[in-house]
Amino acid sequence: MQSLVILISGRGSNLQALITANLPVKSIVVISNNPSASGLAIAQSYQIATHVIDHRCYLDRDAFDAALAKQIDRYQPDLIALAGFMRILGDNFINRYRDRLINIHPSLLPSFPGLNTHVRALERGVKIHGCTVHFVTNQLDHGPIVIQAAVPVFSDDTPDMLANRVLKQEHLVYPKAVRWFLEGRIKLKDDQVKLAPTLNLNQALHSPAID
Ligand code: GRF
Repeated sequence: MQSLVILISGRGSNLQALITANLPVKSIVVISNNPSASGLAIAQSYQIATHVIDHRCYLDRDAFDAALAKQIDRYQPDLIALAGFMRILGDNFINRYRDRLINIHPSLLPSFPGLNTHVRALERGVKIHGCTVHFVTNQLDHGPIVIQAAVPVFSDDTPDMLANRVLKQEHLVYPKAVRWFLEGRIKLKDDQVKLAPTLNLNQALHSPAID
């Protein structure tokens, strides 16, 4: 059985989706850079070990990243999942965990990397929006894509309405992607994720739609 470290900064709804997905792991550990993150209480309510590495206590990004890596390495995780982790990680950190560091981003990458994705999607008038699980590389929100889920955008949507619609899909696809990784079903080749696709018409907006 493998072990999973989840990094959070806030609310923790994706964290909860991962915790309750019955993933094939022997342990989950949660680390937050934000002592007030409500996700910490969620983890604790499931008797999951939590740590806080407060970025404000470190002089610079490298010092914070080093402290974070030190804590992570105590657990020798097979996978590190960023779940609403709002700190940009430096190159050394990313290279150290390359190919076992994944993130969920609330847009259909490569559209709308960065912040405020739902506001920007509405401003651009896109008709389809969604979320992406991807490996983390040195270029922010640009790594190899594991799975995406798409949702319609309606003309009377507010950013909150759209965010909620996307978030429901995040909670479906993130556990799925993490499970695939832990089951060894994800192969990275030429900076792309290779999975055997199967056609499942009921999930036409999840691609690849493998159970
Ligand atoms: C999610 O929308 C996630 O895609 C983004 O930050 C948000 C975190 O929400 N990276 P939560 O903390 O998982 O509820």
